[in-house]
Amino acid sequence: MNEKKPLTTAAGAPVVDNFNVETAGPRGPALLQDVWLIEKLAHFDREVIPERRMHAKGAGAFGTFTVTRDITQYTKARIFSHVGKTTEMFARFSTVAGERGAADAERDIRGFALKFYTEQGNWDLVGNNTPVFFFRDPLRFPDLNHAIKRDPRTGVRNPESNWDFWTSLPEALHQVTIVMSERGIPRSYRHMHGFGSHTYSFINAANERFWVKFTFKTRQGIENLTDAEATDLIGRDRESHHRDLFDSIEQGQFPRWTLYVQIMPEAAAATHPVNPFDLTKVWPHSDYPLMEVGEMELNRNPQNYFAEVEQASFTPASVVPGIGFSPDRMLQARLFSYGDAARYRLGVNHHQIPVNAPKNPHNSYHRDGAMRTDGNHGATPAYVPNSQGLWPEQPDFREPPLAIGGSAAHWDHRVDDDHYEQPGNLFRMMSSEQREVLFANTARAMERVSLEVRERHVANCAKADPAYGEGVALALGVTSPSAA
Ligand code: HEM
Repeated sequence: MNEKKPLTTAAGAPVVDNFNVETAGPRGPALLQDVWLIEKLAHFDREVIPERRMHAKGAGAFGTFTVTRDITQYTKARIFSHVGKTTEMFARFSTVAGERGAADAERDIRGFALKFYTEQGNWDLVGNNTPVFFFRDPLRFPDLNHAIKRDPRTGVRNPESNWDFWTSLPEALHQVTIVMSERGIPRSYRHMHGFGSHTYSFINAANERFWVKFTFKTRQGIENLTDAEATDLIGRDRESHHRDLFDSIEQGQFPRWTLYVQIMPEAAAATHPVNPFDLTKVWPHSDYPLMEVGEMELNRNPQNYFAEVEQASFTPASVVPGIGFSPDRMLQARLFSYGDAARYRLGVNHHQIPVNAPKNPHNSYHRDGAMRTDGNHGATPAYVPNSQGLWPEQPDFREPPLAIGGSAAHWDHRVDDDHYEQPGNLFRMMSSEQREVLFANTARAMERVSLEVRERHVANCAKADPAYGEGVALALGVTSPSAA
C-alpha cells in the first residue's frame, strides 16, 4: 500500500526529484532554489531531541492490566473497580546511567515505568526494579547523576566518583547491595520484578486513607546475567534487552507480571518502627503481606519507536481519584521534576502526543504553547469563572485531610536513624553462593577505586553484618575493620 503513495513535501506538494539535486548545469553547483533539498536537510538537522537526563536508554510496549482481586475496600480507583476489569496501558523499561546509545546488559538499576489509561485520567507508576533507592532526600538526586555519569574532565565514566558518592551516604548501602548482588544485571526486561518503591496512598469510597506499596512480580521468573555473561553479550549485542522484549511480543510470547499491594492503615504509620515513607527501606512482608490484586500483560509492540517510546513521558504526579501521594519527600520532589523535564524535552504540550494523551474526555483551561495540535478548545472560554458554566471543578474527588505538622526546619533525618539493619537482613538472607557473587561483583565494580573509598565501603558493609564487611574486604584486598 505505502509504496503506491507518492512522495510529497511537508506542505503536501509533489517532490519531482529525490535523487538529483538541482544544479547549474550538469557539472555546476547546487541551487538554493531546490527547496526540497533545503527542507530535507533542515528537518534532518532538528531530528534529535534531548535525551532523558536519566533512564535515557529504554524500550517500551503496550498491554493490558486486569484486576484479579477485589480491593474496593481500600481504593475507589476505577482501574480496580471490579474483578475482571481491564485497562489499556504502556510500559517503558530502561537502564539509568547510560546514554541513549548505551548497552542494555550493564550493571545498573532498571526503570519500570507504567502508564495506565484509566477512565478517570492517566495513572503513571514510575518505578524501578528495586524496592528502595540510594537516599531519601531529593537534594541528593542531581548529585547522584553527576557522580554516576561522565567525569567532567575526561568525559569518561568514573568509578571513583560513583563509589565516593555512594559510600559517603550510608543510607545507600541497601540499594548498593541490591545492585551488586546477583540481581544487578537482569537477563532481560521480562525477567525482573518492578516496584513502585515509594509509599503511595489509597482512598476508598468512604474517603478513608490507607498507605500502599506496589510490587509487580515477573511471571517469567527472575533470571540474571553474571558479569562474564553480560560482557560477552554486550560484545555481541548492545540492544539485548530491547531486542528481547520486542521479539518476544512479536512472536506472541507476551510477558506478564502479577501486581501485589501491601496495605498499611493510615494511623499505623505513626507507630511503625521505621519511617514508612523512607525510600531507603522496605516494609517487611511479615508485617505487611503481599496481596495479589492483578495482572499486567504486554502484548503490542509500538509501530514507531520515536513516536511512542522516545516521546513517552511519565510523571508520578499523574494519579487518579483513589490513588494519592504520601509524605515521602523524594516523591514530592519527583512530582515537580518529571513534568518540568517533559516540558523541556518535549514541550509544554507533551500531553497531546498520542502515547501520553489520556483516553478519557479531558478539558482544561491550558491554551496555546508550542506545537498545540488539538484545536486549542476552539471558541470555548479560556478563563474561569465564566457565564457558560465551563468547566466545573470536581470537589467530590477531594481527598480526606491529612494531618501533618511540626516546625519548619532543615531537619537532619540521619540523626538516630538506622542505615544498616535492612541491608544486613538482605545479606543474611543470601546463601553462601549468593554472598560470594556479591563480593566478587563488588570487587570488579570497584577495580579502579581508591583504597580510601574501598575501606569506607568495607566499613559500611561491616556495620550491616561483620561477614559482609569481611567478605568484601577479602575480595577487595583491604583490611576488614574487625581484623584491624
Ligand atoms: C526518569 C528525576 C527518583 C524512576 C527521570 C527523569 C527525571 C527524573 C528528570 C527524566 C524524565 C524525562 O526526561 O522524561 C528524578 C528525581 C528523583 C527521581 C528528581 C528523586 C528526587 C526516582 C525514583 C525512581 C525513578 C525513586 C523509581 C522508584 C525513574 C524512571 C525514569 C526516570 C523509571 C524513566 C521514565 C521513562 O521511562 O520515561 N527521573 N527521579 N526516579 N526516573 Fe526518576
